[in-house]
Amino acid sequence: MRLKDCHNFHDFRRMAEKRLPGPIFNYIDGAADDEVTLRRNTASFDSCDLVPNVLRGVTEVDMSVTVMGQKLAMPVYCSPTALQRLFHHQGERAVAAAAARYGTMFGVSSLGTVSLEEARRISNGPQVYQFYFHKDRGLNRDMMTRAKEAGVEVMMLTVDSITGGNRERDKRTGFAIPFKLNLAGMAQFAIKPSWAIDYLTHERFKLPQLDAHVSMGGGVMSISRYFTEMLDPSMTWDDVADMVRHWGGQFCLKGVMSVEDARRAVEIGCTGIVLSNHGGRQLDGSRSGFDQLAEIVDAVGDHIDVIMDGGVQRGTHVLKALSLGAKAVGVGRYYLFPLAAAGQAGVERALELMKTELERGMRLMGCTSVDQLTRENLRFR
Ligand code: FNR
Repeated sequence: MRLKDCHNFHDFRRMAEKRLPGPIFNYIDGAADDEVTLRRNTASFDSCDLVPNVLRGVTEVDMSVTVMGQKLAMPVYCSPTALQRLFHHQGERAVAAAAARYGTMFGVSSLGTVSLEEARRISNGPQVYQFYFHKDRGLNRDMMTRAKEAGVEVMMLTVDSITGGNRERDKRTGFAIPFKLNLAGMAQFAIKPSWAIDYLTHERFKLPQLDAHVSMGGGVMSISRYFTEMLDPSMTWDDVADMVRHWGGQFCLKGVMSVEDARRAVEIGCTGIVLSNHGGRQLDGSRSGFDQLAEIVDAVGDHIDVIMDGGVQRGTHVLKALSLGAKAVGVGRYYLFPLAAAGQAGVERALELMKTELERGMRLMGCTSVDQLTRENLRFR
């Protein structure tokens, strides 16, 4: 299978599955418990239909949006995800460069495999730095200082991962960082030579270095220990309010789902929220960001930028979210599978397809700019 044969999310996913050892593919593809939320995230876009307008003169289409003070050429950005150099040696470097090329925002994860400083050097396109709340308050402040010094525009605190989700696929394959593969897992690595050659050549079979705070004494702390030992489950709104004040700029909470929480995010001075269930990887059975969108936009949309993610695989999914009032939409697996399949060329092809689908979709909807998409353009079944 070649990159030019990939025309949509499913093609990229298949190509990634062919190249990646099973444990790594399943780490990306999988989710928590019975994966109900994972499936619902995409299925919820089918609960409504687009209602187009015609004969509106749609020669020029402007897809740009401004979200949390950042101008994006299209309303889709690369949500922060962990461990990208494990999927392809170009990892975050490829995604940062591809996002900049398409004029959109790149989310640097604090569980990433390049530092935020390096990501910043690769592109001067808009970037968010995503982090978690640590018991060590000094570490939280250090991370914000580093982000400020590196010139990061938006701080993003993920609040849906105060403990790790129950990822049963990872338990079955033995996927863990550092690797703790079982026999079946090891066999999976042996039969995927192109991944193994890539890894041997570029990473010499060492785990790519995680961002500094997850590394301990030159070794790498396991991610499950990181969640249980370093993150602070006692975190409250007061702690976040302190951080928002300390940062003093664009601050976004990722993983807010309830109206009550969205209102509190406004009260403490956040400038954005991402409605997200972490791609179904945390609380299985939780509602999809898309299903929750209208309620949240009605409650706080005039005061804060409302973004959603989860299950987005098509330009028309994005058009539906924008019609309901989202300012922008995040994608995770949509760019991770292309990254795993073909590195930067893969991510660029995926973003190109998204851009083409969005342009075509906007024309077919009779819209020349994103703000023309309204709830009049959507009907729920
Ligand atoms: C994630 N996500 C995530 N989120 C976050 O805030 N920090 C992180 O380090 C990660 N890591 C991560 C790894 C992998 C492999 C995946 C698939 C996801 C969640 C991500 O930012 C986003 O919320 C979801 O991926 C959105 O769902 P879709 O687009 O993957 O369906």
